[in-house]
Amino acid sequence: MDTVLNERQIEELVARLAREIAIEHQHLMVVGLLKGCLPFMADLSRALCRCGVRLEMGFMRAKSYFGDRSSGHVQLEELMGLTVADKDVLVVDDILDTGHTLRKMHNFLADRGARQVRTCVLLQKEGHNNGVVADYVGTTIADMFVVGYGLDYRECYRELPHIAALGEEERAAVDCGSDPLLLEAGHG
Ligand code: IMP
Ligand code: MG
Repeated sequence: MDTVLNERQIEELVARLAREIAIEHQHLMVVGLLKGCLPFMADLSRALCRCGVRLEMGFMRAKSYFGDRSSGHVQLEELMGLTVADKDVLVVDDILDTGHTLRKMHNFLADRGARQVRTCVLLQKEGHNNGVVADYVGTTIADMFVVGYGLDYRECYRELPHIAALGEEERAAVDCGSDPLLLEAGHG
C-alpha cells in the first residue's frame, strides 16, 4: 500500500491542529466519532493539553459506509450518557468525504442544546463534500480510499500507525478473507 501520510507527518498535523484550536478555545467538550476517531482523538487530546486546553470527552458512533462507499444514510448512536447542553463542542472525526456525517452530527448536537458546535477532521477528501467544510482540517487528500490511523476497510487496517491508500491486493485479501493480519491473529 502506498503511504499517504507517515507517522511523523501525522504528528505534525495533529500538533498544528491543536495550536489552531487552542487560539480559539480554552475549554472544550470533545466528541469523537467511533470507531475511526480513536487514534486521532487520543493524540489530539494530548496535544491540546500541551497547548493548555482543558477537555471533557464524549463519544458517539456514526456509521454510513459499507466497504468503500457511503450509503448516504448516517446512523448515529449516543454513547455513555453524552451531555452537550450549554457546552462548546468540538466534533472529532478521521475524515470528511461526502460531508453527510458532519452535517448530521452538527444538527444532532445543536438540537441537544450545544452552545457551539465546531468540527475537526484529520483529512478532507477533494471532490464531493456537498458544501460541508470542517472548522479545523489537518490536510486535504485526493479522492481515494485510505486506511490506517483509525480508518478501516471492512474493519481491517485501523491499527496501522500511518495512513495508506488501500491497494488492490489488500482490498482483495480482505474481500476473500485471506488478509495476512487477520490470519496471523487467528481470525482468518
Ligand atoms: P462522509 O459522511 O462521507 O463525509 O464520510 C465520513 C466517514 O466515512 C468517516 O467517518 C469514515 O468513517 C468514512 N470514510 C470516508 N472516507 C473514507 C476512507 O477513505 N477510508 C475509510 N473510511 C472513510
Ligand atoms: Mg467514521
